[in-house]
Amino acid sequence: MGEYHIIGGRRLSGEIAVHGSKNAILPILAACVLNAGESRLTNCPNISDTLHTIDILKEIGCTVKCEGSTITVNSAMADRFEVSENLVRKMRSSIIFLGSLLTRFGAAKVSYPGGCVLGLRPIDQHLKGLRMLGATINDAHGFLNCTATRLAGTDISLDFPSVGATQNIILAATLAEGTTIINNAAKEPEIVELTTFLNAMGADITGAGESTIKIRGVNRLHDAEHRIMPDRIVAGTYLTAAAMTRGDITLTNVSDINLRPVIAKLTEAGCTINTKGGKIRLIAPPKLNAIQLKTQPHPGFPTDLQPQFAAMLSVADGISIIEETVFEARNKHVPELCRMGANILQVNNMRTSIIEGVPYLNGSNVISHDLRGGAALILAGLAADGKTIVNPSSHVTRGYESIEADLRSLGATIIHTT
Ligand code: UD1
Repeated sequence: MGEYHIIGGRRLSGEIAVHGSKNAILPILAACVLNAGESRLTNCPNISDTLHTIDILKEIGCTVKCEGSTITVNSAMADRFEVSENLVRKMRSSIIFLGSLLTRFGAAKVSYPGGCVLGLRPIDQHLKGLRMLGATINDAHGFLNCTATRLAGTDISLDFPSVGATQNIILAATLAEGTTIINNAAKEPEIVELTTFLNAMGADITGAGESTIKIRGVNRLHDAEHRIMPDRIVAGTYLTAAAMTRGDITLTNVSDINLRPVIAKLTEAGCTINTKGGKIRLIAPPKLNAIQLKTQPHPGFPTDLQPQFAAMLSVADGISIIEETVFEARNKHVPELCRMGANILQVNNMRTSIIEGVPYLNGSNVISHDLRGGAALILAGLAADGKTIVNPSSHVTRGYESIEADLRSLGATIIHTT
């Protein structure tokens, strides 16, 4: 199993480009199934979640060609509507294929994704939406069996603005008969990104990025090309790394609009941030201030950057409070940070962290339990005294193309052993 070995204490400086977004490309690859033709995607991230999604496309009969960061999917010959258990276990978000397979084939069989390290993660809102569009869904032997003739548009109100449920419903409603309205829809930039791609293929979707989305069903889609948006969580991770190493870095291929809540909190912590011409420059203060934050659906502070901020605030001046409201069990990195000398008290069923900043962390051997928690531990290692080993690396490679090469180019001492 791979590990990251880090020698802390280097100040990050320099310029790097941010790769394409993981959470944008996954639903877009699922959307390629809707058009029985060719889709060309550029700026695709070369991460293991992309590779697993490509495996699903191949399993259902698509042809997929990868050249650098360009992926071409031809789904004309796709003829299977089942996603195997093995692939869903590797990547929980495979559930996003439910909507597109059902629409394309009138049937979908996808292994039921269980809970995960972040908590129970029910999919009731996905299933409610698909049923309201006319799907029959049975849950047997660990599989979800869905069937429908032609789906019919309707009004759907989500109990919570779930990103995945909003995307699954959009995918299913794109070719449905009539109009679908999603109320209390997720407003994340990756929702806007999915609808931009679908509209480029001939779909008729308005309101993405707002809480009511309108999808007028169309009869068919056509071939399209699309550039995947930059990954706002990767960008936020690198900004946080610079903030906690007294760094001065510039990110290119990045959208500052999508990072507004993150930039606001980094500024509150004492960083100077300039956004100009598609670049973001962060200059860290000699000592960070303590801050308070609460994760929320977009445009609130993103849960996917909460662990990295916990690492950063471990070395800030004073007492910070982080409240996690999206996932019930997202704090498995906290005991590992404490192992490195962080002073963190967890309350409210481990959802709230009260962090008293310490002057420095100690390099240690720590365990990564999930993607963003693993990134947080790498960041802690960058700011720690001595050597840190983060093990295993497989969670982090799900969402970061080559975090060690990016950080090395900014002056960090880090290697990835495989
Ligand atoms: C997506 C992102 C993930 C991010 C999350 C929140 C992808 C591949 N993943 O995950 O990185 O952390 O959004 O921004 O894009 N819930 C229900 N019932 C449902 C669906 C969700 O109760 O049917 C709950 C979940 O358990 C969780 C919360 O809603 O507590 C948020 O989940 P959701 O917005 O659906 O996140 P994902 O789409 O899984």
